[in-house]
Amino acid sequence: MNIVLCGACGRMGRNVAEACKERGVTVTAGVDVVPSPMPFPVYTSFEEIKEPADVVIDFSPASSVRERLAFCKARKIGIVIAGTAFSDEDEALILEAAKDIPVFQTGNLSVGVNLLQMLVKKAAEVLGDGFDAEIVERHHNQKKDAPSGTALMLAKSVNEGFGGNKENVFGRHGLVGARNKSEIGIHAVRGGTIVGEHEVMFAGQDEIVTLSHSARSRMVFAEGALRAAAWLTTQPAGKYDMNDLLKSVL
Ligand SMILES: NC(=O)c1ccc[n+]([C@@H]2O[C@H](COP(=O)([O-])OP(=O)(O)OC[C@H]3O[C@@H](n4cnc5c(N)ncnc54)[C@H](O)[C@@H]3O)[C@@H](O)[C@H]2O)c1
Repeated sequence: MNIVLCGACGRMGRNVAEACKERGVTVTAGVDVVPSPMPFPVYTSFEEIKEPADVVIDFSPASSVRERLAFCKARKIGIVIAGTAFSDEDEALILEAAKDIPVFQTGNLSVGVNLLQMLVKKAAEVLGDGFDAEIVERHHNQKKDAPSGTALMLAKSVNEGFGGNKENVFGRHGLVGARNKSEIGIHAVRGGTIVGEHEVMFAGQDEIVTLSHSARSRMVFAEGALRAAAWLTTQPAGKYDMNDLLKSVL
């Protein structure tokens, strides 16, 4: 598999390059608006790439999506889009491109987190209203937003599993009274260098079921990107996410 890596010189780009080296996967070229030395040529635009490519892994921020998609369409190859917070216009371009090429887009490339999302939905379905769901997420002390997008994603899946009648309650403080059955509690812990931990607890009468995920390094996202890229090369044109990949292997 020949990979073109966009955002090649950023933190995630370097992690993907490292994961490729470990797995013997070839990065034929990189693209970065601020190039720095890498073990493959890095260009400032897709137009300059002459090297072979089977798939693009894109860890650049949500800009210039048009150029990346045009490159993939011209080469008839897929793209793994890892950036977040695209404009409506860019999202429309991505959807349009997915008519011609396979496009994989997700805000969380960790296979484990996406599996956890499926499992918590199933758990809520099976356990039902006799159980109270609470989510605790832990991240490093530099994280700006709370709770994490992943915690919200998990809460959405739990709610779907329960039948869609729950509401998120963020932390508790003061004389809040007894817990309401409609609540999904979400709690954000911040400290040190914690990469990212998510725990979903279902507490019932005399028993507790806990499902959790712990990311120990950014390599989990890099590994997820490689897995998505390999899978995408076998797919027809269309828009995919990690759930599609997991469903195909379960
Ligand atoms: N989906 C996931 O699982 C996941 C996981 C981690 C990070 N991310 C996202 O990936 C992105 C990159 O994260 P990071 O930590 O590596 O950031 P970073 O700032 O370390 O790296 C971004 C790199 O992209 C380059 N760049 C900026 N604009 C570009 C453009 N138009 N074309 C090509 N290169 C460009 C920058 O010069 C930089 O080297 C962020 O949007 C982040 O939210 C997604």
